[in-house]
Amino acid sequence: MKKIGILTRDCAGINAAIRAVVRTACHYNMEILGIRRGYEGLVNGELVKLDRLSVSGILNRGGTILKTDRSKKFHTEAGQEQAVQTLKENNIEGLIVVGGNGSMTAAHILASKYNIPTIGIPATIDNDISDVELTIGADTAVNVAIEALDKIRDTATSLERIFVVEVMGRDCGYIALQVALAGGCEEVMIPEKDFDVGKICEEISEGNKKGKISWIVIVAEGRAKADDVAQTIVLTTGLETRVAVLGYIQRGGSPTATDRILAARLGSHAVEVLRSGETDKCVCLKGNRPDTVPLEKAIQPKQIEIEEYYRLIKILT
Ligand code: F6P
Repeated sequence: MKKIGILTRDCAGINAAIRAVVRTACHYNMEILGIRRGYEGLVNGELVKLDRLSVSGILNRGGTILKTDRSKKFHTEAGQEQAVQTLKENNIEGLIVVGGNGSMTAAHILASKYNIPTIGIPATIDNDISDVELTIGADTAVNVAIEALDKIRDTATSLERIFVVEVMGRDCGYIALQVALAGGCEEVMIPEKDFDVGKICEEISEGNKKGKISWIVIVAEGRAKADDVAQTIVLTTGLETRVAVLGYIQRGGSPTATDRILAARLGSHAVEVLRSGETDKCVCLKGNRPDTVPLEKAIQPKQIEIEEYYRLIKILT
């Protein structure tokens, strides 16, 4: 394989993955083209030549130097054919896709329907790729959220208030569960589990009678809006409640060492796997060794550990 392409989505650690892919490709004297603006750029033929120097100084930077975009065109057959045309016209023999569930689904289409040798690198703050223990970006997101939460707790304790903190996760409660456990929060609401806000209110009122003065409720954005939860708490308990929505700060920022190391290992492994002739796979670590999982499996809904987290949160807070 002489020439490969790379496209990405967005989260902390993706630049570190680009660097690892580009430098490993250069190590094998392969040419590498960056595809700008994700699948939209693939459809439109927005390419940029990458070399060792063009990825200097990006290891610690959040986001993606290649930019990214959602592509409505790629959802159509015509768009997909145009994307394949871009690859063929530019003699790109293999493709590396760095991103989350949507990106991996599109990568699977290119590999299985159009026979394009394609390897995925899992990178999303949601950590929702099946059979992949940890995706690039998730560790940074949890750490960013914890840093913010620790500051919120100072105010919650000083002013004896209840806080409802909304974290990211449209379909997945990974960040919420990690943050709740690592931050010592009393309650957590996630998309994967039905939740009764009334019950939380009862617990808060009961706790309040016994002298418990501050509570932090973590809510994943896909479960409920923090404002609505806070309003119910105020109306039911009469206690002062404030809201903090952490939002996109969780997706940006300098990647943690864990994310940089993961990006280096998975990025380099993706090039090795592509060179060896494998396709339609997503790279991952298994038992701390570089491995792969079929993309078809990787895009299935991920089962996350829920009950153990809820049990611990109840026992420990
Ligand atoms: O997939 C990661 C994620 O950050 C989700 O947690 C969030 O809901 C979504 O992306 C929002 O992404 P965008 O605003 O780019 O559609």
